[in-house]
Order: sequence, then C-alpha cells, then structure tokens
Amino acid sequence: GKSGHEHYMLKEIYEQPTAIRKCLRERVSEMEESITVEELSDLGTLERDGPVQFVACGTSFHAALYGARLLREQGIHAQCFRASEYAAESVPIHSGTVVIGVTQSGETADTMSALRTANKAGASTVTVTNVVGSSAARECDHVMYIRAGPEIGVAATKTFASQQVALTLLTSALTGSASLDTIKRLRTLPDQLQRVLDESTAREIAMEYVDADSYFFIGRGYNAPVALEGALKMKEITYKHAEGFAGGELKHGPLALVTEASPVFAMATGENHVEKMLGNINEVEARGAPVVAVTDSPATLSQYADHVLEVPDAGPRLTSVLANVQLQLVSYWVANELGRSIDKPRHLAKSVTVE
Ligand code: M6R
Repeated sequence: GKSGHEHYMLKEIYEQPTAIRKCLRERVSEMEESITVEELSDLGTLERDGPVQFVACGTSFHAALYGARLLREQGIHAQCFRASEYAAESVPIHSGTVVIGVTQSGETADTMSALRTANKAGASTVTVTNVVGSSAARECDHVMYIRAGPEIGVAATKTFASQQVALTLLTSALTGSASLDTIKRLRTLPDQLQRVLDESTAREIAMEYVDADSYFFIGRGYNAPVALEGALKMKEITYKHAEGFAGGELKHGPLALVTEASPVFAMATGENHVEKMLGNINEVEARGAPVVAVTDSPATLSQYADHVLEVPDAGPRLTSVLANVQLQLVSYWVANELGRSIDKPRHLAKSVTVE
C-alpha cells in the first residue's frame, strides 16, 4: 500500500532515508575506513585508467552524469552517453573500456541495446540496477544493486537518490579512494535527508507558483545533473513546460525565455558555486523572474532570492542529493494541486521496453 500517502510517489520520496541506508549496509566501514562493494570486487583488477563510459536514459542518465563527474574527479577518464544514441555515436570501444549501464528497472530497451553493443565490442560491462535478475543484470559481466526497494510510481525518486549513493560507492571501489570524510558524510546523509523531509517548505512554494507558464532549474557542478532532473520530474508529472540548465549556459540562449511567469529554481550549494550562482540569479532577476534558491547558505541567499529552500551541508558532492529532494517535493505538490495522475502520468510507462 501507500502507507497513508495519497500517492506512491510521495511514499517513495519519504522512503529515501531508508533506501540510502539499505544501499550503504555492509558496504561502508568506519572502523576500517573502507568502502567495499562485494559485487564489484573482481572489477578492481581491471585497468584503472581504461575509459569508463556510462550509458543510461532519463533519470538514470542524470545519475550517470553525476557518477561520471565523481570518477573524473578521481582522475578516471569517464564519459556519459544517452543509451539511445550510443551505437549511433560511433564511440570507440576496446578491451580496456568499462561500460556502465545505469538502469533502475534493468529492462530499458535503449540501455539494453547499448550494453549489448558494448559486450559485442569486447568492453567489460557493469550494470547499476535496482532489480535482481533483470535483463541488464543478466547481460552484464558485473552487477551492483542499489537496493532501493520496489518503486511503483512512474516518476523515479528514491531510485535516483540510491543511484547517486551507489555511484559514490562504485567510485570508491574502482579507485580505492574512500576517505574518512566521504564515509562520515555517507553515514550522516539519511538523517540529513530526513531533516529535509521534515522541514521542507516546498509545498508552500509549489502553491505560490502553481500557475506559472514555465519552470527553470539551474545548477553548477554536481548540481548541474540535478537541474536536469528537477526539470524532467516537473514535466513528467505536471505536464508543464520545464527546462534545466547548467548555470553558465543561461546567457547563451535560454535567458531569452525567462519572464515574470517563469520561476527559476537555483541550486546554490558549496562555497565555490554559491558565488557564481549569485551572478546567474542576478541575470534572471533582472528579467523579472521569481527566484527560489535551494541552498545550504540560507543567510546569504535570502538576500538575493524570493524564497529559500534550505538543505543541510552534506559536502561538495552529496549536498546535491538533498537539493534534488526539495525539487521532487516542489514538483509533487504542483502536480497534486493540478490534480494530475501522479503515479501514472499520461503517455508514460514505468519501464520503456521499446527502442
Ligand atoms: O529503468 P530505467 O532507469 O532504465 O529507466 C530510464 C527512464 O525511462 C526513467 O528514468 C524515466 O526517465 C523516469 N520515468 C523518470 O522519472
């Protein structure tokens, strides 16, 4: 059942602290200052600097963008491809290449076809999936489970958070880069997420902007994929126009769309990005757009933004997991107010088994 929630989507949003705890269980040891992913132990023997290519669709693609960034930060040459375009892009694949398919269901046809292409070309294949025994799990040389539990709502929510956490673990497993700081931050994340759920004012903000023409989402660094994800969720369940951009791209075109009727959700977390984001906020405010800052620096941002959705500081990478939860809640409450079919949006299926 929906445990008292009106929709599975809301139930699943609230299940995120538990989903993350399950993903971490027995993989993170504070005592030994280590992260181990049992399922990937034999991947450790692979050539570390062989390129890593992520293939995925939709929300899983956004998680893959996050994962590729994590690996690049550790010096690994990691790229990200939309699974539906992977074969057509003539990406060079050789025996040292590791191809990672990120797929909640493990059944997405585009992702399966990219993984088959990779297998045929001699790459080592890995899937990061939620479903035990799924097609992707059977196709790939290695399987890492995200352990989010079943997700019924068509909109992916808890599985995205679990993918972000799983890819953090995968990065440590592949690079041996588990720092005590990362371990501590992972351990605290479920409680911080619970705090976001308990204290969020996303519902009030949703009410304020339910009549908007368009919604824009901007973020930089690890928040850039979250901006894309925020927009996808908004489109999917509200049927309203929404777009996500890396903050720096605004002035290269999208700014022309910004008006008083297009609220901008600006993710500003971590010192480096807060400063640059303030520039982006000025750009959109000058065009009359209302700004909602999603931030771990509420004191600073409340001077610039119309509203603030606060998130705790979870470090330079994981704070984006929390920022995303605020956006999930905004989309949910907008869709709820509009009376949409939230768990089964029109035209969409939970797993897309045609190419
Ligand atoms: O099962 P998968 O993760 O492979 O699914 C990929 C996409 O179809 C999926 O993430 C889709 O974008 C979601 N409905 C978004 O909420």
